[in-house]
Amino acid sequence: MTIIAVDGPAASGKGTIARALARHYALPHLDTGLLYRAVALNLLRWGGDPESEFAALRACDFAQTDFADAELKSEMVGGVASRISAYPAVRAALLERQRDFATQPGGAVLDGRDIGTVIAPDADAKLFITATPEVRARRRLEELLKLGRTSHYEDVLIDIRARDERDASRAAAPLRRAQDAQLLDTSELSVEAAVAQAVAAVESRLHVVDHRPAI
Ligand code: DC
Repeated sequence: MTIIAVDGPAASGKGTIARALARHYALPHLDTGLLYRAVALNLLRWGGDPESEFAALRACDFAQTDFADAELKSEMVGGVASRISAYPAVRAALLERQRDFATQPGGAVLDGRDIGTVIAPDADAKLFITATPEVRARRRLEELLKLGRTSHYEDVLIDIRARDERDASRAAAPLRRAQDAQLLDTSELSVEAAVAQAVAAVESRLHVVDHRPAI
């Protein structure tokens, strides 16, 4: 069983890297941000109050959720997802689903904020993907423009910084690099180069020779 944990802030490239690793190792992949986004979208559609932990917990019922819904990717939903992900009850409600995915026979690749620290602390390989806020804002802006949404660089940058601050400062499972995670800064890298470095980093962990003396 091979578990690969990929964490990092918004628009760092972690999703692209996680998908590429999943393809490379023929493992199933879970974008855990989608779970928090689905809770946020459920809440918005029901008219629930994002300030209420109880309402957010009720929105964790995925019976009606379409994970292919394009609205899940919107900035609005991302912002609410970042808010409701600070609630311990919401994190607890989503924990088992993520752990089950991680520990399925054969293993899996998961990307998010707390995979290496909370969901799969014993993962075989852990990556922490970063890029400067400016680079991430530019990438996010390009994505939004491609989707036909009008956005401005300054607004996206403010949004990215606010999200970083919220994700890193919350008490429950904050965004932070696991001690044994390998850091990969994608600011200056093309997608191909970032993926190649990620594969090399994972390889170096999967083929660690055990030097402990045999007893
Ligand atoms: O990666 P993303 O932008 O789709 O994630 C949306 C929000 O969900 C993010 O701001 C914080 C939250 N999240 C989390 O708290 N833990 C995760 N493992 C994944 C996402």
